[in-house]
Amino acid sequence: MAPITPQQGIMDIELYQGGQSSLPGRSDVVKLSSNENPFGASPKSIEAYARAAHDLHRYPSTDHHSLRVAIGEVHGLDPDRIICGVGSDEIIHFLCQAYAGPGDEVLYTEHGFLMYRISASAAGATPVEAKERERVTDVDTLLAACNGNTKLVFVANPNNPTGTMIGGNELARLADGLPDGALLVLDGAYVEFTEDYDGGTALVDSRDNVVMTRTFSKLYGLGGLRIGWGYGPRDIIDVLNRIRGPFNLSNAQLAAAEAAVRDRAFAAKCATENRRMRAWLADALAEAGVPSDTSCANFILARFADTDEATACDAWLREAGLIVRQVGSYKLPHCLRITVGDESACRRVATAVRAFKESRA
Ligand SMILES: Cc1ncc(COP(=O)(O)O)c(C=O)c1O
Repeated sequence: MAPITPQQGIMDIELYQGGQSSLPGRSDVVKLSSNENPFGASPKSIEAYARAAHDLHRYPSTDHHSLRVAIGEVHGLDPDRIICGVGSDEIIHFLCQAYAGPGDEVLYTEHGFLMYRISASAAGATPVEAKERERVTDVDTLLAACNGNTKLVFVANPNNPTGTMIGGNELARLADGLPDGALLVLDGAYVEFTEDYDGGTALVDSRDNVVMTRTFSKLYGLGGLRIGWGYGPRDIIDVLNRIRGPFNLSNAQLAAAEAAVRDRAFAAKCATENRRMRAWLADALAEAGVPSDTSCANFILARFADTDEATACDAWLREAGLIVRQVGSYKLPHCLRITVGDESACRRVATAVRAFKESRA
């Protein structure tokens, strides 16, 4: 009998490891490994989610009209050019499924988000990495890596796990330099934590080869519920909708996300607090002898002397009940990615890192 084999590329996929969330025998653990909102979801979103419990027997809307209108109103976008998915992961997946297959290349940056490689491989396409310059997206290396097979180019701006970003002019240069038939995907999972950046909407509006993805998992504190969205040219959104499951989002997801995006005051408060504590934590770590690049997101990429020191600090933080993220799988084994928590969490991190460095002096 012929062996039953999966499609090309699937067995090359390494399973995604989520951030750890508990430590055996400890109840005072702070999880700073998945870039979640330390303040949780908006109370209005939680209420909307609870109300949805009364409608569990009803199928959800297939076109997500009400959520798309809300996103459109809040961000000043045309709702007809928005698609909603099970996290922005699902939008990334749709893009690869729709636009890349065997023989095609999917390009992303050296320390780019792992889902680009996973989704490209799942579609049978070839994942290709372009070097960054000192942990910053490099448009020149991306353009140099393009060829006639390049179908998708993923750039997270700000990037995870580096926290760095590039400016609008560089993004426009990238979009304009891509070969015909290649689509630029601006992953905006962390856009809400930046200042003076539209997330790429102007670029999407002025080009026909740019798509933007966004999420409710970070600023909106809905990572556990799984909702993301994409915005792009009408014909591309139409393509993605054809492969989207008709009921990919539940009533509860749709209701909670709509309430979350409409609660602008809560979102603004969380973003302001993130910026305040991000600057504070970066300074405190630098004073302790642990540098980081200026972060534009809700985490800090703390740099250590080498892999051994980063691993030892990770173990030290665990002893102190603090779970952060090792990022060896992002080719940054000498770094730890630390989510910016609330003030007390940031103070605990700073105290623990300082004590760790003093213990080795
Ligand atoms: C850069 C980037 N893009 C996309 C995602 C996916 O987020 P979600 O699927 O929760 O919307 C993440 C999550 O960590 C991310 O860091």
